[in-house]
Amino acid sequence: MSEKQVFNPNPEFSKNARIKNMDEYNALQNKAMNDYEGFWGDFAKEKIDWIEPFTNTLDESNFPFVKWFEGGKLNVSTQCIDRHLDTRKNKAAIIFEGDRGDVQTITYLDLYKNVNRFANLLKEDFGVKKGNRVVIYMPMIPEAAYAMLACARIGAIHSIVFGGFSSEALKDRIIDAEAKVVITADGAFRKTKPYMLKPVVDAALEGETPVEKVLVVERNNEDVTWVAGRDYSYNELIKDKSAVCEAQVMDAEDPLFLLYTSGSTGKPKGVQHNSAGYILWAQMTMEWVFDVKENDTYWCTADVGWITGHTYIVYGPLAMGATTVMFEGVITYPDAGRPWAMVENHRINQFYTAPTAIRVLHKMGEDAPAKYDLSSLKVLGTVGEPIDPPAWKWYYEEVGSSKCAIVDTYWQTETGGHVVSPLPGATPIKPACATLSLPGIMGEILDPETGVKVGVGESGYMCITRPWPSMIRGVWGDEERFVKSYFGDVKKDGKPVYFTGDGANYDNDGYITITGRTDDVINVSGHRMGTAEVEAAIKKHSNVAEVAVVGKPHELKGEGIFAYVVLKSDDGVADEVEEVKIINNIIKKEIGNIALCDDMVFAPGLPKTRSGKIMRRILRSIAKGEKITQDISTLEDPSVVEKINSMVNK
Ligand code: PRX
Repeated sequence: MSEKQVFNPNPEFSKNARIKNMDEYNALQNKAMNDYEGFWGDFAKEKIDWIEPFTNTLDESNFPFVKWFEGGKLNVSTQCIDRHLDTRKNKAAIIFEGDRGDVQTITYLDLYKNVNRFANLLKEDFGVKKGNRVVIYMPMIPEAAYAMLACARIGAIHSIVFGGFSSEALKDRIIDAEAKVVITADGAFRKTKPYMLKPVVDAALEGETPVEKVLVVERNNEDVTWVAGRDYSYNELIKDKSAVCEAQVMDAEDPLFLLYTSGSTGKPKGVQHNSAGYILWAQMTMEWVFDVKENDTYWCTADVGWITGHTYIVYGPLAMGATTVMFEGVITYPDAGRPWAMVENHRINQFYTAPTAIRVLHKMGEDAPAKYDLSSLKVLGTVGEPIDPPAWKWYYEEVGSSKCAIVDTYWQTETGGHVVSPLPGATPIKPACATLSLPGIMGEILDPETGVKVGVGESGYMCITRPWPSMIRGVWGDEERFVKSYFGDVKKDGKPVYFTGDGANYDNDGYITITGRTDDVINVSGHRMGTAEVEAAIKKHSNVAEVAVVGKPHELKGEGIFAYVVLKSDDGVADEVEEVKIINNIIKKEIGNIALCDDMVFAPGLPKTRSGKIMRRILRSIAKGEKITQDISTLEDPSVVEKINSMVNK
């Protein structure tokens, strides 16, 4: 398929979709434009089971510190569980497939009991109270979802740390959030072998930390160290807990969770999402973008450690009463047919994954989809990074048999849910294009200088010009950073607007294509990585004088990490292999395997202006093998550019 516009070819699907065609899309978006508060207020009344109704839809008098649905009281766990019990108590809420093929079906009634027991445990045995922060460092097992919902039930604020992060990264997040409890597991299974998490928690808790107690889910039953008075077995404590736990009454704007994410400078930021606005948009986008029907089975391959796992494995699907699949394993194990076997076995109707996964599955198993019955599929989603046309084509034709709608969903940790995406069956789709802002989202590509909407084909900054319910509410403990990071760069009509950090452009149809980050954040396999974080880790090596990290296009990962390292002494360069090993070990310890460098060059110096600013654009060009077009005559030492270039592009 070329650049030509294609329509969802399945008219039956469109007929039954929640938003059926572009007229319906336009009607919704027009309503939002003409009566913004009415649009959101009506949906909030319809979708949320309020304990007490809200009295004011939106207060933006203290922008960007906005308040949605003031006066409203609710509990997110009851939104996700209790309210479904009348009609769906025996329906599968979660279908879990373990790494080794073990399958567990958890009904809504099971979920209710398990979450309540978990909530009682946290309250009674650990003394967790409303507003306390609880760090969750878990593998992809149902207990991770129970832990999230148990926190929500008692009003504790969870902060999940992805299980691939190192002990240092975990420690930083524990300290920043001042968490008093960590929930973890001994480990899990990966490619049928045990892999461990508890030792990472032990290392993170060495020295001073605010953590008083650690709850350990015994999943793989490997030997782990138990610290008396600190570590407790979930499997033991849960046994005598009551399956009834009254839900804490929460204000609409009470915090639901923190999730740390990388920015262009400094340490990761604790992105804060609050209760009502977040759960409202999680449910609405789930319904609109995946169009999950009552008897459908939906699978998102993300990890709960990322925002995609929060919104589209746990909160969104459960809020709408859907069946969500959770997978512990690796999608290419035992071979690249694993996800397609799962689609066949569970009769999955919506499948949601990252372009990196699609590229890997395509490369490792181009013909694998044809070996399975994938006829249940209706909607295929992508998330996290731009999808390239060849990967899109394979996904559309081979996985979806040219019959499924593809939704290229653009959003971020900070947006809480999708903001730009096609609606399946309604939006004419194009390969590798996120298309249009969703109804209610005032997405605009603006010129950063003038704040004016850019014309067709012009590059601009992807902004959202009005606050939406699931917008980030703060950076934990740092108001100034919140304002500066998101509302400092672009002004429309003289007023600051939310800037995503991404560049974008419009095509002739007014469709939005995201072109990538405009800051020093790189996107490795759909995961956000701040170059400053990687640089800070590399600088911990005593022999490193200077370092600059940039992104470089990578065939499978989208972007790879390219480090230019200047060593203090030339001695080290004599054994480059050894230096690379040392540096990578430091990165592993400081951040985790996801930040390992794909390329490392030991440079004689870095291209810097006379005021000492590193010219990253030049380094990006060298990494890509591009011709250097920048003026280098004003650099402190112009000769360094040629020296590095000849090392990289021999
Ligand atoms: O650069 C954009 C890219 O991922 C960034 C957000 O990363 P994170 O907060 O980790 O959330 C990832 C999952 C939502 C964005 O700033 N991104 C996300 N989705 C897309 C995308 N880039 C292009 N197309 C997308 N569909």
